Amino acid sequence: MKRKIFIGGAWPYANYYLHVGHVASLLPGDVIARYYRACGDDVIYVSGSDCHGTPITERAKLEGKTPGEIANFYHNEFVKTFDRLNFKYDKYSSTMSNYHEKYVMDNFLRLLDNGYIFEDYEDQDYCETCNTFLSDREIVGTCPVCGGKSTGDQCEVCNTSLNSSEVKDKHCKTCGNPTILKKNKHLYFELPKFKGVLQNLIDENKDRWRKNALGEAQKYIDMGLVNRAATRQLTWGVKVPVSGYDDKRIYVWIEAVLGYLSVGSEVASSREIDFDSFMNDDNKELYTYYVHGKDNIPFHTTIFPALVSGLNKNYRLPDYIISSAYVNINNEKMSKSKGNLISANELLDNFESDTIRFYLTFNGPEKNDINCSMDDIVQVHNKFLVGTIGNFVNRNLSFINKKFDGVITSGKIDPKIKDLVIKTYDSVGKCIENGELKNAITTIVDLVMSANKYYDEEQPWVKVKEDINSFNDITYTCIYIIANLSNLLNPFIPNCCLKIRNMLGLDENNSWNEIEINGDIKIKDLEMLYERIDR
Ligand code: MF3
Ligand code: ZN
Repeated sequence: MKRKIFIGGAWPYANYYLHVGHVASLLPGDVIARYYRACGDDVIYVSGSDCHGTPITERAKLEGKTPGEIANFYHNEFVKTFDRLNFKYDKYSSTMSNYHEKYVMDNFLRLLDNGYIFEDYEDQDYCETCNTFLSDREIVGTCPVCGGKSTGDQCEVCNTSLNSSEVKDKHCKTCGNPTILKKNKHLYFELPKFKGVLQNLIDENKDRWRKNALGEAQKYIDMGLVNRAATRQLTWGVKVPVSGYDDKRIYVWIEAVLGYLSVGSEVASSREIDFDSFMNDDNKELYTYYVHGKDNIPFHTTIFPALVSGLNKNYRLPDYIISSAYVNINNEKMSKSKGNLISANELLDNFESDTIRFYLTFNGPEKNDINCSMDDIVQVHNKFLVGTIGNFVNRNLSFINKKFDGVITSGKIDPKIKDLVIKTYDSVGKCIENGELKNAITTIVDLVMSANKYYDEEQPWVKVKEDINSFNDITYTCIYIIANLSNLLNPFIPNCCLKIRNMLGLDENNSWNEIEINGDIKIKDLEMLYERIDR
C-alpha cells in the first residue's frame, strides 16, 4: 500500500537572501521527499516564504520600500535559489497568497469557536504624541542587565532578550517622547490547555524527533506553558477576522505555521484528494515530517501541534521533527552584522548544486553545529564526489568506451555484490525515514568504496587480456553498481544520477529497489561525473 507522507519545510522570512544555514536545515526535507517519491508513495512536500511580521517591516523601513515590495522581491529570489539547489517542492507558496490568508482566517475562527482563543486586556506601551501603541521594536530604552541601549525586546549591547516591561526609561523611537502604559485589547491562544497533548506527543516520539527537539520541547513544558498573544499591534499581516481588531494582525508565528496546512490542503485539492482524510491521525501509513533549524523548535513542537490539536480535525501531529543545528563559518557564528554570511547564491556561483547538497548532508549539522568554509567544501568535493563516486563511474565507463566502443557485454553479476546492493537499499531507506541522512549517505559512500576495492582487486584491465568472460562478469557487476547508484544517490545528488541514467540509457527510477540490468548496454555520450576543483 502507498504510504502518505507529509513534509513541511520551514518558511524562510522574506527579508533577506537565503544563506548556507537555511540550505543546511531545509535540505533534509527535499532528500526525504525525493526518497518517498522514489518509493512510489503519496508525498505532499510544501513550504513557502514567510512574508509577514516585524522582520519584513523592519527591512522595508531600512530600504525605504513597502513591506509588500520587500517580501515579493525576496520571495522571488527564494524561488530561484531553491530551483538552482534542485529542491522539488510540491508547492512553494507565500504567506501573502489569497488562499493562505483565507485559510488562516477561517481556521483562526475555528479555534475561537472551539474555545481556545479568548479576549483579554493588557498594559501596553503607548505614545501619546504619535497616538499609537508601540511594538517592541518601536521602543528605545535602557537594558536592565548591562545598562546599554535596548529596544523593547532585546539589548543591542549585551544581546539579552527582554520583555518590554523589564526595559528601563522607555521612549518612542519615532518621536523620542517617553512612553506610557495603556490598556490594549488582544486575543490569546490558550497554550496551557494542550499540556497533556504536548507531553504525550513528546513521549510517543522519543525515537523519532531529533534530540535537540525533544530537549527543547520538554524544557518549554517544564518551564510552564503560558497563554500566547494571537494578535499583534501591526498593520502588516493577516487580518483578524473579529470586529474591533482592525488595527491588529494575527501573530506571525501562528499564521505562518498554519501555512503547512494551508498549502498542504491546496496541493491536495489540486490533486483532487481530500486533505482531511490524508492528514487523519487514524491513517496507519501516514508519516509527517517538519524540517527546520533549531531556533524554530519551540514553534514546531509546541505552538504548531497545539494549534493543530485545537482545530479538532483529528489531524496527525508531527511524527518527525528534523531540527538541524547551526552552520558556523571559519569557526565563527554566522551573522549579518559580522558580515561573514555565506549566501546560498554565493555557494551556487562557486559550486554545482550536487556539491552543496552532498557537503551539507555528508557533513551536515544533524546533531551538532558544523564548521563550514569554502576550502572544506572543495576538499569534500574532490575527495568524495571526484575521488570516490566519480572515479568509480568514470574508470569503468571510460575503459569500455576506449576498448569496446562503449558496448558493455552482458555478464554474470557477482552475488556478493548483489547482496551488498540490496542490503544498502534497505539500510539507506531506513536511515532516510528516520531523518538520519548523514548515516544514509555514508552507507552509500561505503558501498562505492567497496566497489572501488572490488575493481582494484579484480583487475579488469588485466583480465581483459587473459579471460574475457571473467572481464565481462566484473564489468557487468560494476555497471550494475553504477546503475543502482543512480537510484540510491538520487535523493541526495540528483544531477549526477541523471547523468548516469543518460549514459546508460536508464529510465527515471520509480522504485526503491534494486535496478536489474539486462543484455548488452551501449554507453551514450560519455561525460565526467564531476570535475576536480583547484583552489
Ligand atoms: N520564518 C521563520 C524563520 O525564518 C520560520 C517560519 S516556519 C513556519 O525562522 F512554518 F512557521 F512558517
Ligand atoms: Zn511617538
